[in-house]
Amino acid sequence: MGPTHSLPTPATVGMERERTVHVADIIKRFGDTTALDGVSFEARRGELVVLLGRSGSGKSTLLRHLNGLEVPTSGTVQVLGEDLDAQNGAALRRLRSRVGFIFQQFELVPSLTVLENVLTGSLAVVRGPRLGIFGYGKARRLRALEHLETVGLLQLAYQRADTLSGGQQQRVAIARALMQEPDILLADEPVASLDPESSGQVMNLIRDIAREKGLTVVCSLHQVDLALSWADRIVGLRHGRVVLDTATDGMTREEAMAIYGQVEPASITSEFQAIAEGLDTPGHRERIARDLAAAEAAAASAGAGASVAGTGGESQ
Ligand SMILES: Nc1ncnc2c1ncn2[C@@H]1O[C@H](COP(=O)(O)OP(=O)(O)OP(=O)(O)O)[C@@H](O)[C@H]1O
Ligand SMILES: [Mg+2]
Repeated sequence: MGPTHSLPTPATVGMERERTVHVADIIKRFGDTTALDGVSFEARRGELVVLLGRSGSGKSTLLRHLNGLEVPTSGTVQVLGEDLDAQNGAALRRLRSRVGFIFQQFELVPSLTVLENVLTGSLAVVRGPRLGIFGYGKARRLRALEHLETVGLLQLAYQRADTLSGGQQQRVAIARALMQEPDILLADEPVASLDPESSGQVMNLIRDIAREKGLTVVCSLHQVDLALSWADRIVGLRHGRVVLDTATDGMTREEAMAIYGQVEPASITSEFQAIAEGLDTPGHRERIARDLAAAEAAAASAGAGASVAGTGGESQ
C-alpha cells in the first residue's frame, strides 16, 4: 500500500505548532560506552519524527529518555514544557502518563480479548480490582471501543488477542496507548516484526493519528523507504550523534541513506546482478569500475568509513 497523504487537519495547521519535545545536548554514558553524544532535537504537535540509524546508533536510548526511563548523564530533556529531570513522585507519573509507548513486539496479553487489552491502557489511572471489562466503567469501555474504531478493529473487540495477525496486534497496541490520552507517542521500531504491507498500514495509521489528534510521534525505524514515505521529519543518528535533521519534503533516498554512511546506487546493484548471472559482456567491467569509483567518492564525502561491496575483490 502506498502513502495516502491526507490534507492537514486543524490540529496540524497553525502559525507555529507547540513544541512538545525538546532535547538539549544530552550525553548518555553506560560505563565506557557513550550511547548518546551531545544529541539535540525537538518535535512539535501533529508531527511524526522518525529516528533513523544503524543498530547501536542510540535510537532506543534516545526514546527512553523521552519518558524518563533513562536519565541523561548531562543535558536536558523537556517534555510538554516541563523539565523531566526536575520532576519526581506524582508530578513525574503525571507527566509520564501523557507519553504513550509502543514496541516492536506489541506486548499484548495473549489470552485476553482485544477490548480487555485496550482497557489495560488506562490502568495507570484506574484504581482497585477489575473483574474483566466490567471493572472499568461504562465511559472507559466506550472510549476503548472508540479507539478500536480509530484503528479499524472495532469488529474484533471480543476476539482473543492471540488470534490476530501481527499488523492487527500492533493496531491494538496503538489503541491501548491511546487510552492514556497521550500528547506524545513513542514507537520503538513498531513495524520491525511486520510484512511490508502491514508495515505501511501501521505507519499510515500512526501518521494519521499524529495529524488528526495533534499528537507528537517519535518513532525509530530501520527502513529508509518507510521513513521517507511517512515521516514529516527524519533525525538521523550515527554513533550517538545527530547527523541529519531535515523535513522529508524533497529529501532524496541518497540523502537519507547517507545516515548509514553508505550509498546504494541502483546502477551498481544491477551491474552486480548482471555479472552474477554470467552476463559479463564487454564494457561491463569498465562501467562497474567507474560506478564504484563514483559511489566510493560519494560515500567518502557523506563521511565516516563508508564502503561499497566490490566484485571479485577489485574494489574496497
Ligand atoms: N542499559 C545499557 N547498558 C549498557 N549499554 C547500553 C544500554 N543501553 C544501550 N546501551 C548501548 O548504547 C548504544 C546504543 O544502543 P541503542 O539500543 O540505543 O541503539 P539502537 O539504535 O536502538 O539499536 P537497534 O537498532 O539495534 O535497536 C549501544 O552501544 C548499546 O550497547
Ligand atoms: Mg533499538
